[in-house]
Amino acid sequence: MTEPDFHQLYALAGSTFTPGTPVNDRDLFAGRLDQLSKVSDAVMQLGYHAVLFGDRGVGKTSLSNVISAMKMGGRDLATCKVTCDASDTFSSLWKKAFQDLSVITVQPAFGFGQKDSVGTISLESNISENASPNDVRVVLKSISEVTDVLIIFDEFDRITAKAVTGLMADTIKALSDSAIRSTILIVGVAESVDSLIENHASVERALVQVALPRMSKGEIGQIIDKGLDRLGMKVGKKPREELVTLSQGLPYITHLLGLHVARAALLDARLEIAENDLGDGIKTALDQWQQSIKSAHYKAVLSSQPGNIFQQVLLACAMAETDDFGYFTATSVKAPLRSITGKDYDIPSFSNHLKEFSEVKRGKIIERVGQTRRFRYRFVSPLMKPYVVMKGFSDGLLNRESLTAS
Ligand SMILES: Nc1ncnc2c1ncn2[C@@H]1O[C@H](COP(=O)(O)OP(=O)(O)OP(=O)(O)O)[C@@H](O)[C@H]1O
Ligand SMILES: [Mg+2]
Repeated sequence: MTEPDFHQLYALAGSTFTPGTPVNDRDLFAGRLDQLSKVSDAVMQLGYHAVLFGDRGVGKTSLSNVISAMKMGGRDLATCKVTCDASDTFSSLWKKAFQDLSVITVQPAFGFGQKDSVGTISLESNISENASPNDVRVVLKSISEVTDVLIIFDEFDRITAKAVTGLMADTIKALSDSAIRSTILIVGVAESVDSLIENHASVERALVQVALPRMSKGEIGQIIDKGLDRLGMKVGKKPREELVTLSQGLPYITHLLGLHVARAALLDARLEIAENDLGDGIKTALDQWQQSIKSAHYKAVLSSQPGNIFQQVLLACAMAETDDFGYFTATSVKAPLRSITGKDYDIPSFSNHLKEFSEVKRGKIIERVGQTRRFRYRFVSPLMKPYVVMKGFSDGLLNRESLTAS
């Protein structure tokens, strides 16, 4: 058997596990069957449009990439994707959308032996600086006589102009009422969906709402398997389980860890990931984490008091059970805190810690909502939670057993 080219595999790992980039390759896309089928149903059914929403980093852009590359019921589908930004207006969004779409025109030739002349017309010019939903409808109607169209507006929550949501809701309504074969897919965080539907109740019927939750353990496992498969690598049951647990349902973390853990093994000229690669991989991943998250964590747990338990409480928060919206309660912090410290703390002995995490002096890394005795808490940045867990693991506050038991 020839020796594997470890240098080449090291490079390939970087294009297989891509923490900074959405997936564009169907073969590396894992799970999400339910959400894929809901969105593609909306695309195929006349009169329906869709919104895809979820926390940062759960895989919204990746899913919309896969959708736009799918064949819908064997029909041709022209897709265009707009990444919204803070400066966008209703007109600028549709100009961007139509930049990517052009219609091929055929002028029949006069006379025998002459060829038809073929040209393209860009649709962008049909949209003026203050275009209305009806202008958009007219353009889409003309394209949809030639092909079905899917227009994706990603990062919809970044738009600041208030009027855009109402105009977009009117456009969806207009397209849906006149049965035009075009689908709009809006992608963003949950709040952006609320604002789209709020005050525009009539659009709700035409809109399929698809929530993208954290990934299940099975789906996270698939990301690892597909990636390692491409690299011709293997991982034992235990380190695989730990990778899944550390990911906390966030595919971003799986890619980050997958990359560094695979590379740790490759550097040692091995194709099988061993348990100690995990520790090395975590160290590199922690190092490369966004600086803002690292310093916020440092500020949150800083204390000059010996024996203080700020880091332990924060770690327990990161491991506490949450509701569908990511909120946890003080009660749910108790069990993980016990498994981390080996002691039974009652709520009053750490409720002040929770309060301080939501205050300026500890960087407000946790938000607190509700009233006394019924407070609920949530990490402000979804990337903080896995950082806290990994840091705790790396600092020895969390052993392998309590990690996998969480
Ligand atoms: N189904 C999936 N299979 C494999 N990897 C995935 C999947 N979904 C997301 N990822 C990976 O997770 C990371 C985050 O994905 P993505 O950028 O699509 O999330 P997002 O929700 O659009 O994030 P943001 O809110 O920052 O825009 C990327 O590294 C991507 O490769
Ligand atoms: Mg995205």
